[in-house]
Amino acid sequence: MAKGFYISKVVGIVCVVAAVGAVATIIALSVVYSQEQAKNNDSNLQGTNQPPTTAPTTAEPPGPTTAEPPGPTTAEPPGPTTAEPPGPTTAPSNELWDKYRLPTNLVPIHYNVTLWPRLTTDATGKYIFTGESLVEFLCVEETDVILIHSNKLNYSTLENGHSARLTAVSGGTVPGINSMWLTPETQYLVVQLDGKLTKGDLYILETVFLGELADDLGGFYRSEYIENGVKKVIATTQMQPTDARKAFPCFDEPAMKATFDITLIHDLQTIALSNGKEIETTNVTMDGENVLVTKFERTERMSTYLLAFIVSEFGFIQDNSSDVLVRIYARKPAIDAGQGAYALNKTGPILKFFEQYYNVSYPLPKSDQIALPDFNAGAMENWGLITYRETNLLYDEEYSSNSNKQRIATIIAHELAHMWFGNLVTIRWWNDLWLNEGFASYVEYLGAHEAEPTWNVKDLIVLSDVYRVFAVDALASSHPLTSKEEDIQTPAQINELFDAITYSKGASVLRMLSDFLTEDVFKKGLQTYLKTFAFENTVYTDLWTHLQMAVDTTGTALPKSVNDIMNTWVLQMGFPVVTINTATGNVSQKHFLLDPESEVTTPSPYNYEWIVPMQWMKTGVVQNLTWLETKSASIPAMTVTGNEWVLANIDVVGYYRVNYDQANWDKLLNVLNTDHELIPVINRAQLVDDAFNLARAKIIQTVEALKTTTYLSKERAYMPWASAINNLDYFYLMFDRSEVYGPMQDYLRKQVTPLFNYYKTLTGNWADVPTGHMDQYNQVNAISLACRTGLQECQELTSSWFRDWMNTGVNKIHPNLRSTVYCNAIAAGGTAEWEFAWDQFQTASIATEADKLRAALACTKEAWRLNRYLEYTLNPDLIRKQDATSTIIYIANNVVGQSLAWDFVRARWEYIFNQYGGGSFSFSNLINGVTERFSTEFELQQLKQFKADNADIGFGSGSLALDQSIERTTGNIKWVTENKNNVLNWFTAESTP
Ligand code: BES
Ligand code: ZN
Repeated sequence: MAKGFYISKVVGIVCVVAAVGAVATIIALSVVYSQEQAKNNDSNLQGTNQPPTTAPTTAEPPGPTTAEPPGPTTAEPPGPTTAEPPGPTTAPSNELWDKYRLPTNLVPIHYNVTLWPRLTTDATGKYIFTGESLVEFLCVEETDVILIHSNKLNYSTLENGHSARLTAVSGGTVPGINSMWLTPETQYLVVQLDGKLTKGDLYILETVFLGELADDLGGFYRSEYIENGVKKVIATTQMQPTDARKAFPCFDEPAMKATFDITLIHDLQTIALSNGKEIETTNVTMDGENVLVTKFERTERMSTYLLAFIVSEFGFIQDNSSDVLVRIYARKPAIDAGQGAYALNKTGPILKFFEQYYNVSYPLPKSDQIALPDFNAGAMENWGLITYRETNLLYDEEYSSNSNKQRIATIIAHELAHMWFGNLVTIRWWNDLWLNEGFASYVEYLGAHEAEPTWNVKDLIVLSDVYRVFAVDALASSHPLTSKEEDIQTPAQINELFDAITYSKGASVLRMLSDFLTEDVFKKGLQTYLKTFAFENTVYTDLWTHLQMAVDTTGTALPKSVNDIMNTWVLQMGFPVVTINTATGNVSQKHFLLDPESEVTTPSPYNYEWIVPMQWMKTGVVQNLTWLETKSASIPAMTVTGNEWVLANIDVVGYYRVNYDQANWDKLLNVLNTDHELIPVINRAQLVDDAFNLARAKIIQTVEALKTTTYLSKERAYMPWASAINNLDYFYLMFDRSEVYGPMQDYLRKQVTPLFNYYKTLTGNWADVPTGHMDQYNQVNAISLACRTGLQECQELTSSWFRDWMNTGVNKIHPNLRSTVYCNAIAAGGTAEWEFAWDQFQTASIATEADKLRAALACTKEAWRLNRYLEYTLNPDLIRKQDATSTIIYIANNVVGQSLAWDFVRARWEYIFNQYGGGSFSFSNLINGVTERFSTEFELQQLKQFKADNADIGFGSGSLALDQSIERTTGNIKWVTENKNNVLNWFTAESTP
């Protein structure tokens, strides 16, 4: 392995070719840096960057001042300057720079960006980066103002007395700069010119700037870790959706595609990575400092949100056996321990699979993937340089569970899928995000299946996406997949789109579409779509158009056009419950609402009716695809006689629930209890999930749903068990603080004991784990449910395994079982167990192990310990920022921690909001997580009070989640009142032998 490749390569070729541009850049940067150093010596950044006293306040919309870091508030440094921002104008609220969307009069063509991140602090204790950017753009409509996105950047004054230099590519004259200023709310650098730019002419805007390399996980930021007792700092990026503008001034919208020449300046012991392959690394001296300058190959035409720049001391492994160079980067000890090998082995095959699936070759010469110690999302599809959380890329046989392994395979597949769908062909605006993320979330299963064909991983989309999103899409406060372009403007609105609807409903309806078109037709349409729009932008209907073309050329029979069918799924929120009456053959549909009394205020263009494809079987025999196109229809084929039964939505390919007449339900229950394998495994999971949810919606009785669990004592398959546990989790949430708890525990213990014993035998008294992937999952479920329901043998087992680790210092617990064993042992244990786990957490050499411990530390039953742990979550030295919200949620999931976590979040809302509000997923998760158990009037009042009290601070990307929590709580209160007695009686009757 060519470790230290960069360093050794550059030493020999120092200054061989010092291109004029590069030298100019370096000098410019070095000057800026010295200037900034000097400034920083005098006073803090803020002090030197106050707006000129003449700055009119009208140009600055009243934005939240808390959003601004210490640093630049205006482009113009104090001192004599010709720059005069415009005085108060007639309609300040309607100026171009008051709008969040860029005008279309200027179009970027190419950027030349040089960045120099400093991995040690400056005199003021800050980490900074400096940069220089040239952007060449075309004027398509004449204008005298240039708007370019810029956020939290501080600009230097150039020799012309301004913060930018404007030239014409033709070399001709250009209008002079009249004034420049920043608009912190809309995040622009505004350049007011003396005259107009000419339509059809190309210009270059040049700037020199400085930014903070903060630990805020967005834009150009820093990540830190300890290696051999030494702190190491990484400079890295997360641009999506709107933070490229925090790294350099740019036209930061997905449709503003351009090519990029990137240069990174970095310390001698470091390596630099970006989207393009590195062309050369040269050794130069700047400010008496020896540094490296790495230049990268020009990128393809691409969106700014897909850029990435990384400087680190990482190691790597590579595979150059095919046309595409594949490299995996991580902390050196992780690479040395072989933790990148799994990802390296799987990337090539998955790339090949997608090349075939899309029928387009991978468009770049290399595919780098890098594991970062601090990373907000799970992974990010930067073109050619994908970034990951460590847990999502690094695999170690000794520490990683099969679930960790699956996560790695699917997340790699997801991000690689984006290299074409998203990166090569990109949505025009964020309102179509669902198409991008939904598509990748569907085909990630296809890619993972290719990597691990024995796992049956494709089945799991039903649990992980379809059922996951049904829970929110069945609320009156849900929303349609599509949004109008004009409704998505601010960064907060864009961030809020990264939700379960976008990901999981998007994936579910695309899977349904691919299924009813057939995969071949779906691929055909996809392939012409990608060819037609390569390097361009689209709206979602462009995909429908190409799928329709494939339908037409193949002569596929559909009841309506792709557009007409799909509109019913993407333009209206929610989904139907289809009711089949097997006595009459009458089939009808109705908008499924978890709380049937909730008021739906969102109007639907289709009146909450869907065009429903139905795959179904009669008494085990698969029938022809049948469509339900109206509110109700007569489908004589669905009538039965004698012992015949109907089962619809085979493999839950359709995005809907199914209800039957009582007689058919009884027959299905009978099949479950007598010969359950007559029903396909996914549909066994479906019967349980549909029944429980129909009961919550008061369509069937709750005891009818509970009856679907009686056969489980004979069930050995993972998916039905997972479905049952998932639904029973709701019972735990509602009842684990009430008298229902005891009988419920007794019943479930009775049901799970045979499964527990089955795995005990299968694994030779727990000496091993089963071979099948799904069996491995189900073994974990068996152990965790057995322990949870108080099966003594289970509790003794888990505690003794953990104690053995504490006593011997050798952890013999199988990685698959660690999460549940740790949790149970810590719950049953005291100080010694908790402190031991905390030590192990802090010294873990792989993030996967640390994550298991971090979750388990929340399992303690001691309130004071949970309170202390909550405090730890806001100390980044103890819990990384990326992990804060998930840790709070773990604590809230613990019945003892629930109210503590809620109190904590309420008391610290302002702080949490400001520190962690920038992220996208975590915020709505946090609100949902800490309120999941809410089921009393008192809790509902608290929730409403919380909303009112913090109205002025806001909830950012968690706003929708807050409304959903209120609706969920209201539903829970009613449900508990109406069901408690029945449920108590049923569990009591079923648990007494
Ligand atoms: N584009 C996203 C990453 C992202 C998410 C960026 C939110 C900005 C805001 C990426 O493709 C993605 O979807 N990542 C997922 C993993 C995936 C397997 C669902 C993630 O980060 O969890
Ligand atoms: Zn994605």
